[in-house]
Amino acid sequence: MAKLVINGGNRLYGCVEVQGAKNAILPLMAAAMLTDEKVVIKNVPNLIDVHNMSKILLALGADIDISSDRALISAANLKSSEIAHILAKELRSSIFLLGPVLGRLKQAKVAYPGGCDIGLRPIDIHLKALREMNVKIVERSGYIYCDASKMTPTELMLDYPSVGATENIILASATLKGKTTIMNAAREPEIVDLQNFLNTMGGNVKGAGTPFIEIEGVERLHGSEYRAMGDRIVAGTYAIAAAMCGGEIVLKGCKAEHIQSLLSKLSKTSCNIKHIGDNIEIAAKTKREAIEYIETQPYPGFPTDLQAPIIALQTISHGVSVITENIFENRYKHVCELLKMGANIRVKGRTAIVRGVERLSGAEVISQDLRGGAALVLAGLNAIGTTIISNVHHIDRGYEDIEKVLKRLGADIRRV
Ligand code: EPZ
Repeated sequence: MAKLVINGGNRLYGCVEVQGAKNAILPLMAAAMLTDEKVVIKNVPNLIDVHNMSKILLALGADIDISSDRALISAANLKSSEIAHILAKELRSSIFLLGPVLGRLKQAKVAYPGGCDIGLRPIDIHLKALREMNVKIVERSGYIYCDASKMTPTELMLDYPSVGATENIILASATLKGKTTIMNAAREPEIVDLQNFLNTMGGNVKGAGTPFIEIEGVERLHGSEYRAMGDRIVAGTYAIAAAMCGGEIVLKGCKAEHIQSLLSKLSKTSCNIKHIGDNIEIAAKTKREAIEYIETQPYPGFPTDLQAPIIALQTISHGVSVITENIFENRYKHVCELLKMGANIRVKGRTAIVRGVERLSGAEVISQDLRGGAALVLAGLNAIGTTIISNVHHIDRGYEDIEKVLKRLGADIRRV
């Protein structure tokens, strides 16, 4: 299994072309199942999650070809409406294939995606909405059997603004005759990207980015060529890297508004930030002050996916920071690894209290999940001495060539 070896202390200088957004591209790939015409998605990074989604689409009978940063998908000859356990367990967000498979084939057999490293990840909100749309659902022996022959457009109110459930409903109703509405919808930018993509295919979706979304089902969707948005979480991770190491970097291809909750905190404590269009300039200040309070929230609040990276920054910021993880119940597994590097962190329930130290010390640490692994990379970039990170496959799920990007910026990092 690959490891990352980092010798900390180098400042970072240069430009990062921000990769396409994993959490936009996965639902866009699912949306391609809704048409029998060719779809081209551009700005697709080389990620384990993208390859796992490709395997699922192939098992459904779609043709898919990913070369350089393009995914060519044709779902003309879907032959199955089943997502087997062996595939679903590799990619829990496969659950939002349920929507397009029901929309296209009117039936589905989907393995329960199950929990993952950061929590139980139930799908009750997804299933409650589909049942309200008159989808007949039977849950048996780890599988979800759905009959959508009588699926009807419905006014839905989500108990919680679930990103995946919002996407599933949009995908299930895009070609369902009539108007489906979602109240208390998730507002994440990736959902706006999904709306924009569907509308380039002839869809009629309005309101994404607000808590109220309207989907007017259309007879059919046609092919499209679409460039996915930049990955705001990857961009935010590298912005935090600059704050931790010192130096000046430019992030190209991510809208500042998509990570405003992070940038506003960094600009008050550790960085000078300027942004013009999709370019964000981050210049680290000489002193890093602790961010007193951080609460993860649904968008546009502080993103849960940047909780681990921002904790890494707080471990070497002057003062005390109190972070509360409101979204997932088990998302502090990176803390015990950071403690091995000399961090001063106490976790009580959903809250982590971080007291900054001058610098961390290199150590052998283990990546436990995607964003926690990224946090360990950030910690290693600052630490005195050598940090060796194992289980790097977690990081490769969401960060394309992380060591190459950081090496180009001046970090002393290599994959072994
Ligand atoms: C999406 O997950 C993202 N994944 C996550 O990114 C992200 O952290 C999350 O949204 C929140 O922004 C993708 O887009 C592929 P939710 P999703 O449904 O859709 C609970 C990363 O690191 N919930 O908004 O699963 C759930 O357990 C990943 O890139 C229910 O209780 O997020 C969680 O506590 C991690 N019942 C909370 O809601 C449900 O039916 C947020 O889940 C659905 C969700």
